[in-house]
Formats: sequence, structure tokens, C-alpha cells
Amino acid sequence: MKKFRKKIIAGNWKMNKTVAEGEDLATGVKRELDECPDVDVVLCPPFTALKSVGDAIADSVIKLGAQNMHWQDYGAQTGEICPAMLRDLYCHYVILGHSERRRDFKETDKVVNLKVKAAIQAHLVPIVCIGETQKQREAGKTEDVVRDQVTGSLSGLGDSITKLVIAYEPVWAIGTGLTATPEQAQEVHAFIRGVLTDMADENSAESIRIQYGGSMKPANAAELLSQPDIDGGLIGGAALVAGSFVEIVRAAM
Ligand code: PGA
Repeated sequence: MKKFRKKIIAGNWKMNKTVAEGEDLATGVKRELDECPDVDVVLCPPFTALKSVGDAIADSVIKLGAQNMHWQDYGAQTGEICPAMLRDLYCHYVILGHSERRRDFKETDKVVNLKVKAAIQAHLVPIVCIGETQKQREAGKTEDVVRDQVTGSLSGLGDSITKLVIAYEPVWAIGTGLTATPEQAQEVHAFIRGVLTDMADENSAESIRIQYGGSMKPANAAELLSQPDIDGGLIGGAALVAGSFVEIVRAAM
């Protein structure tokens, strides 16, 4: 049975924005978005700007998210950040398994799975990224790749599987200006929901939000977001300017 799923638009700032720049951008988004009851809005600045962005959006509907974390509680992990440190800064969300981390830092589904479990344990909502490369799509392997990533990254969660968000981000569409067509994206989103149904049950699968990511911008957001299984967006480049990010949020309202 189809369930109502509140749309969620998250800005993934990646390695952009200093403390002052982040504060400016967050203030700009907040100014234009004082009320958006039908959409969850999330800003994910780099670690160094979490505090200033968090302060800038305090008392607003906008929530804070991080872009990564370690799965352990504390310890000898030079350069890493643990879940409690994110909670300390009032993060609600954390992006996990982004394709840039899978590609450049060799994060496997197994590692992503450890992080997903640690995030849920710490009451953070993971935004779990999956998606195929161009080569995999051309070889007709999109469904195999996506199924493996979903089952691997989300294994062993039990009922907690409903406490996360999935971001389907075809790697070939990230930062390239190439966007999946609404039909292409919908097809994969529906497939992912089918995989979730096999892993959990129909009710749970129907309640999990699946964002699309990959060159989403004001010009294509409304059409993508009107697809039945596209429940929001994970926005990179277009989230670096308050006006374009806010336009995408409005397209989701
Ligand atoms: P993009 O990035 O919107 O710049 O394509 C999306 C992402 O990588 O999350």
C-alpha cells in the first residue's frame, strides 16, 4: 500500500565553504525558508563548519547533517570523527557511503554497514548513498550493482531499517551536469524499493525515503520529484548557492 513519505532535500556541500562562508550560506537559506512544513531540509557542511552552520540555523526548521563519520565510539583513529562528536554539535543526519568516499577512500559496503549501524545506535539518521558507474550502466549491470550495495550496506539492521534515508546517486550524474531522466531514476528507485521489500517487508519498504542525487538543479527538480518513488534530493553543486538550493526545496513543497 502506498504510504505518504515526507520529501527530504539535503545540501551536500562537500569540501566547500570556510566557517564564515558556511555561516553566510546557511543564513541565506534560512532567511528564505522560514516555513516549509511539508519538506525536511538538511544542510551538510564540512566538519569545520558544523558549529557555525548549526548556530546559524538554530531555531529554524532546517536540520544539520555531516558528510561522514567513523563507526567506533572513540579511540586511536587519527583524523576521524565519531558519532558522539556529531551529536555534540546537534547533527541529526549523516551522509554515509558517498560514491566519492567509495571511490577515493575505498569504502566498501561492509564499512558502510558498520557506519550505518553506529549512526542509528547514536540516534543519527544515515543518508546512505548508492549508485552505479557509467561503465556498469552501459554493461547492463545497474540493478545488480544497486542490489548488492543496498543489501550489503543495510544488512543486519532488523526493524531499524526504517530509520534511514537512501540516496540513489548514479555516479555518472554526479557533478557532471548529466542527470538521469525522471524515467531512468524512477525505474531504479522502484527497483530499490523492491529490494527493500525483500529485505524487510512491504510496510517498511514503503516508509523508507529514497532521494535522487546527481546534478539535480532548479530546472530539473520538479520533474524528478514528481516521480512516485523519488522522495527528495541530495544536492551538491546547486546547494552552494542559497537561491538555487531554496528553489529546489520549493519544487519539493
Ligand atoms: P551534484 O552532487 O548535485 O553536484 O551532482 C550530488 C552529490 O554528490 O551528492
